[in-house]
Amino acid sequence: MSELIDGRQVAARVQEQAAREAERLRADGVVPTLAQLVPTEDEGTAWYVRSIVRTAKRLGVQSRIEPVVGASAAVLVERLAALSAADDVHGVLCQTPLPAGISLAEVAEVITPAKDVDGANPTSLGRLAAGLDGAFAPATAAAVLEILQAYDLPLAGRRVVVVGRSTVVGKPVALLLLARHATVTICHSRTTDLAEVCRSADVLVVAAGRPGLITGAHVRPGAVVVDVGTNATEDGSLVGDVDPATVEPIAAALTPVPGGVGPVTTAVLLRNTVKAAADARHP
Ligand SMILES: NC(=O)c1ccc[n+]([C@@H]2O[C@H](COP(=O)([O-])OP(=O)(O)OC[C@H]3O[C@@H](n4cnc5c(N)ncnc54)[C@H](OP(=O)(O)O)[C@@H]3O)[C@@H](O)[C@H]2O)c1
Repeated sequence: MSELIDGRQVAARVQEQAAREAERLRADGVVPTLAQLVPTEDEGTAWYVRSIVRTAKRLGVQSRIEPVVGASAAVLVERLAALSAADDVHGVLCQTPLPAGISLAEVAEVITPAKDVDGANPTSLGRLAAGLDGAFAPATAAAVLEILQAYDLPLAGRRVVVVGRSTVVGKPVALLLLARHATVTICHSRTTDLAEVCRSADVLVVAAGRPGLITGAHVRPGAVVVDVGTNATEDGSLVGDVDPATVEPIAAALTPVPGGVGPVTTAVLLRNTVKAAADARHP
């Protein structure tokens, strides 16, 4: 049976770091502040916003929430630009899903990279691709790396397969893994023989948003599997993209859903906010 990777434990370590730094900043009169623009009434998003606010409070990070349900692209751009320009806001996040026809990259372009704590501005992704400092990676992608590092899983020279090529998860996670010298393959909905490609992986990262997509037939015995997927089921519970019943018996380690990548993502987002506040003080 595989080891279940405890995301909450990894998150607790990231939170500790953030809380210590937030305390130092507050003692100096700076209150690290994260502003979230919420353009949707989606229940999953509302749950995520509440969990960020709750964790932020514990860490000494102040939250600002702006509901803008049904707003046009122009309004989203105007609000994000205003939050980004505010001296007392250190991190800016635009929640999704956005109204039909509006892309996150298009509106997030106005968030200054120094406050773009979820790496949504295309400039942030560009800097990541170019190997330049001065921008944050998307928090979920960074959380995957945080988990692999916390469990001392070696990456240099390892074959890693990423399932999913979105701008928020698949692509940035692949770039972060490349920077750690892994040999990275990216799969997507047009990949032929997904199972065969996945079976070549020492580390398999899955971010497709398809419950049960990855079964034991996709996993090489002894591989490490990171399940980023979060899919709501009809009974209101949360499941990943990986079928634990068939993968757990053969993988060396697996991140559970819930309790895997999710809590680490929130912790990384808040650590980024605290870092942004510290950087603003001592640029
Ligand atoms: N835990 C967290 O903190 C966190 C944060 C963000 C997202 N998530 C979850 O992660 C999952 C992915 O999110 P996302 O925003 O990246 O989703 P997305 O934008 O919908 O992208 C999904 C990706 O998966 C690929 N895909 C879909 N079906 C596939 C299949 N049958 N075989 C191979 N590839 C397939 C798609 O391929 P194409 O490009 O060809 O369409 C696409 O690249 C979702 O469940 C989301 O809820 C979790």
